[in-house]
Amino acid sequence: MQYGYFDDDAREYVITRPDTPYPWINYLGCEDFFGLFSNTSGGYCFYRDARMLRLTRYRYNNVPTDSGGRYFYLRDSYTGDVWTPSWMPMKSQLDSYECRHGMGYSRISSSRNGLGFSQVSFVPLHDKCEIHKITLTNDSNIDKYIDIFSFVEFCLWNANDDMTNFQRNFSIGEVEIECPPEGSSAIYHKTEYRERRNHYAVWGVNAPVDGFDTDRQSFLGLYNGFDSPEAVFQGQAKDSVASGWAPIGSHYIKLKLSAGESKTYVFVLGYCENPEDQKWEAQNKINKKPARALLEKYSTSEAADRALDELNDYWKNLLGKFTVEADDEKMARMAGIWNQYQCMVTFNMSRSASYFESGIGRGMGFRDSNQDLLGFVHLVPERARSRILDIAATQFPDGSAYHQYQPLTKRGNNEIGSGFNDDPLWLICGVAAYIKETGDYGILNEKVPFNNDESLADTLFIHLKRSFDFTVNNKGPHGLPLIGRADWNDCLNLNCFSKTPGESFQTTANFESGVAESVLIAAIFAFVGPDYVEICKRTNREDEAVYAEKSIMMMIEAINNHGWDGNWFLRAYDAYGKKIGSNECEDGKIYIESNGFSVMAGIGIEDGRAAKALDSVKEHLDTRYGIVLLQPAYKNYHIELGEVSSYPPGYKENAGIFCHNNPWVTIAETRLGRGNRAFETYTKICPAYREDDSDLRRMEPYVYAQMVAGKDAIRHGEAKNSWLTGTAAWTFVSISQYILGVRPVFDGLLIDPCIPSNMKGFTVTRHFRGADYLITVDNSAGKEKGIKSVTVDGNSHETVHGGAAHGGAIIPVFGDGKEHKIIVVMG
Ligand code: BGC
Ligand code: NOJ
Repeated sequence: MQYGYFDDDAREYVITRPDTPYPWINYLGCEDFFGLFSNTSGGYCFYRDARMLRLTRYRYNNVPTDSGGRYFYLRDSYTGDVWTPSWMPMKSQLDSYECRHGMGYSRISSSRNGLGFSQVSFVPLHDKCEIHKITLTNDSNIDKYIDIFSFVEFCLWNANDDMTNFQRNFSIGEVEIECPPEGSSAIYHKTEYRERRNHYAVWGVNAPVDGFDTDRQSFLGLYNGFDSPEAVFQGQAKDSVASGWAPIGSHYIKLKLSAGESKTYVFVLGYCENPEDQKWEAQNKINKKPARALLEKYSTSEAADRALDELNDYWKNLLGKFTVEADDEKMARMAGIWNQYQCMVTFNMSRSASYFESGIGRGMGFRDSNQDLLGFVHLVPERARSRILDIAATQFPDGSAYHQYQPLTKRGNNEIGSGFNDDPLWLICGVAAYIKETGDYGILNEKVPFNNDESLADTLFIHLKRSFDFTVNNKGPHGLPLIGRADWNDCLNLNCFSKTPGESFQTTANFESGVAESVLIAAIFAFVGPDYVEICKRTNREDEAVYAEKSIMMMIEAINNHGWDGNWFLRAYDAYGKKIGSNECEDGKIYIESNGFSVMAGIGIEDGRAAKALDSVKEHLDTRYGIVLLQPAYKNYHIELGEVSSYPPGYKENAGIFCHNNPWVTIAETRLGRGNRAFETYTKICPAYREDDSDLRRMEPYVYAQMVAGKDAIRHGEAKNSWLTGTAAWTFVSISQYILGVRPVFDGLLIDPCIPSNMKGFTVTRHFRGADYLITVDNSAGKEKGIKSVTVDGNSHETVHGGAAHGGAIIPVFGDGKEHKIIVVMG
């Protein structure tokens, strides 16, 4: 069953009933102030860091689910009827309901007993705040007297401490309230401002109020939930002033609406900072200048509308950089709109704040953020550039890297440390993608610290060299890279040997065997290595290029000699030198990762092993919902394998459909020219194709999920961990660069489609290095791959046939600000 539909013209997903199979959320904010916003107005917001600077409280894993948000309670003071127009938290019966999630904003509209309500929520482009503009309309033919109560619950900034340190926190909450008879009204949350914070939150509305509450217990009643706030049911705010306990912000507005009349309010929830020497305007009175300026700026509904228009223009422009038109509307809307949008979100959040990531535990991942770049770099290359420099600064001098860093300090996270031996290679992958997109070789000369220590700074190129050398210098008995704590698969913990409950599989290494090796890292090396060679050649580092080429050859040889199992690529060798991902194993005979990546790297294409490997993947790992990570699932815990064998069969890395690496197989299939199969693997995990199967899939139909339960699980087909997953970037790469085949390369834009034979053609517009490429592909010949002719602005253009790396045609860099028409005929 469907719970909504796509409105592609508006770039929105329209949810038509509130009781979705899981909260279906959106992200507000593009740069440093962010909100998570569900279809029933749940969620929370933060400035830059979801752990350290959280403005509003959110209760993860609560009952009912999705507890906490920016709520509006309405009361008809004539009938005493009380409801929440966003359905939650009261689960109010509504006469109509709709939630539209768009690019950086959401709209909820509903009605009850002749009162229409609409709320639009967004973060304006250049301010640190959420705007919630609400409009009430009296659609009945009698006057209505409505009480409006706003509601947010403040988090005491450090979200972890907020959820654990009650002996202190119940005594520190402080607020200030300003409710003048004219103009805006504001509630200020200033906990800890008296000491070491120079920031506070403001929750204001552009109208005078008839009361307020700032103390949770006074507003709700001690034994009441969000669904039965005492003040609202009594129709009277308590004018409570929080003192310790739990500070909230609630405005109370009495509104008379004549028949047909509408009234709009602009609520602003903002973060404000003061310089250290300007913290106070009087004893214990915070300096409210920045808050007043913010409220003033959004004091009219026109100002809020203008900010929303600006946001819309911003997204229109961004998504104009890559557009698709095709008969397959699901593919077109995912590739053209939602997949790119999700790439922006993963770029901003890494794996920190979603409805599955609490915003407390995980910072920016070295490997994750580098991969996120792949799907984002075409949108805002300048931000990708500075991200690369931040990431590289957390690398150690030997090329290894902190696995994560904190967004606020940009320093490596000691608690997690290093030792994930795939990490260094993703930096090469990210930088190569950036250079191919922009042609900016200058980035290689940027001086970047090692281990955040300026005195160790060297050029970014040297960082890449250390990454490359790290793999070369850390090989095991078969000449394959040592795995360290884990490679891309965080759960293949071959040196962990953990017996202690609760011990982290990722950060515990009970010994470094010096033996456990990863075929996946070898394949990643073989895939990104050639880009490193190209970078060396193009920056006149001939000797380094020769050395790098030789190192890659040796690695490929090691894969050929020790990484092939007869029908597929092996996955790894454990700490005893035993095979993992081999037909010899009882469970975990075949894994997806090493097969996808080896073929992506071109290994075995010429002698047929690549095709054999992908056929084996299809035979053993494929399901109707995507390709599972391994088979057979591990039935028992294997101390020598770690977390992978800790999950019940079919979940997560133990044979779940781990969507992140499905596009590796898609890309691999395109290398073999198998467009039908490539597209099949693409569509199986693509959420839009499962929209009418939402009761089983449960997650949002407009975004990828990290995992879908595999065939061994009872809930086969059910998705989890939507939004923050490397699936976003890799599926965008797979569809845009390898299936539709519009791929930035060092010398220009390569056009090399590999599509299903029944796809008649498509049109892509691509903004690339300062010009617009309007690319039309004609596949009336019904091919899967191969180009018969290409014209560029009417002139015929050469095609590159054969060659391991490219088929297709490379369209040059025009950089002239003009539009160029490229017509490609497959055949
Ligand atoms: C998950 C992995 C994840 C890791 C991060 C594990 O529990 O299964 O998917 O990468 O945690 O620390
Ligand atoms: C999720 C993590 O964020 C990512 O770094 C890892 O590669 C995958 N899980 C697979 O374990």
